[in-house]
Amino acid sequence: MNRTTSNIQSEIRRLCAERDICILAHSYQSHAITEVADFVGDSFALSVKAAKAPNKTLIMCGVRFMAETAKILSPDKTVYLAAPEAGCPMAEQMSRDYILSVKQAHPDHAVVAYVNTTAELKTIADVCVTSSSAVKIVKSLEAKKILFIPDCNLGSYVAAQCPEKEVLLLQGGCPIHASVTAEEAAAAKAAHPGAKLLVHPECIPGVVAQADVVGSTKDILDYAHASDEKEFIIGTELSIVEHLQFDCPDKRFYPLSSKLICANMKLTTLIDLYNCVLGAGGEEIVLDDDTMRDARRCIDAMIALG
Ligand code: 13P
Ligand code: SF4
Repeated sequence: MNRTTSNIQSEIRRLCAERDICILAHSYQSHAITEVADFVGDSFALSVKAAKAPNKTLIMCGVRFMAETAKILSPDKTVYLAAPEAGCPMAEQMSRDYILSVKQAHPDHAVVAYVNTTAELKTIADVCVTSSSAVKIVKSLEAKKILFIPDCNLGSYVAAQCPEKEVLLLQGGCPIHASVTAEEAAAAKAAHPGAKLLVHPECIPGVVAQADVVGSTKDILDYAHASDEKEFIIGTELSIVEHLQFDCPDKRFYPLSSKLICANMKLTTLIDLYNCVLGAGGEEIVLDDDTMRDARRCIDAMIALG
């Protein structure tokens, strides 16, 4: 085979059909990967799609917690993470023992875990949320006191939208989104005065406060696609600027900051995916039965409430 991008993509599609494989790609993956994926979306949408897919094998192009969530929701399927070294620093920031000790000190708080957490941490949470469902789910909980883990920036945003709740936050978050300063946001707005600023709630409150739209990756994509406006500053991972510019050639998209690159999301290459489809790469996700059962409880609660 002549190793061009399109030839490798065709070979991946041929092998997937032959071997009954479904490819899932998070929207932060490269265009070469999103083009060959069966489903592209945020981590939760991918897992739900995965559980419904008829294929016996799933390959996740994203980070480890996403592959774990897919496995928890599809226990009978074989799930691979295409790039085994791709982790999410935020998902791994807090240990189970640490959160158990916080829970012990605050026994009247419901534990709400962002889906960007390890399967192990999900086992001790009451409910999971995604960035798009967090406000709705927190509002719907009976508990007035909430311990929100691990992202204190998403947690601050949720707390501001849910003044009726007492939200306890810990020091954690996405190092990529949280790296953007309020001064950078002001400078980007000054450089592009006609552009709407669309920001992910993993950014710090001083950035979120300046946004025209605050939303998950999917919310940002949907807003930019549907809007009649012509210029947008994108306050989330740089690949979203690339995908939007590809999809909407009549609009202009500017990155909020050149620091918005998730190195872990960039670890998966088209060749990693090809090798995984061939059976010569990737890592099969294996979780013990107790972890699967207990983590599933909090994911099921999210599905029921969200
Ligand atoms: P969403 O895709 O759910 O908005 O999450 C953003 C993110 O940082 C994923 O790792
Ligand atoms: Fe984790 Fe942030 Fe990268 Fe998402 S963008 S995978 S939250 S480090």
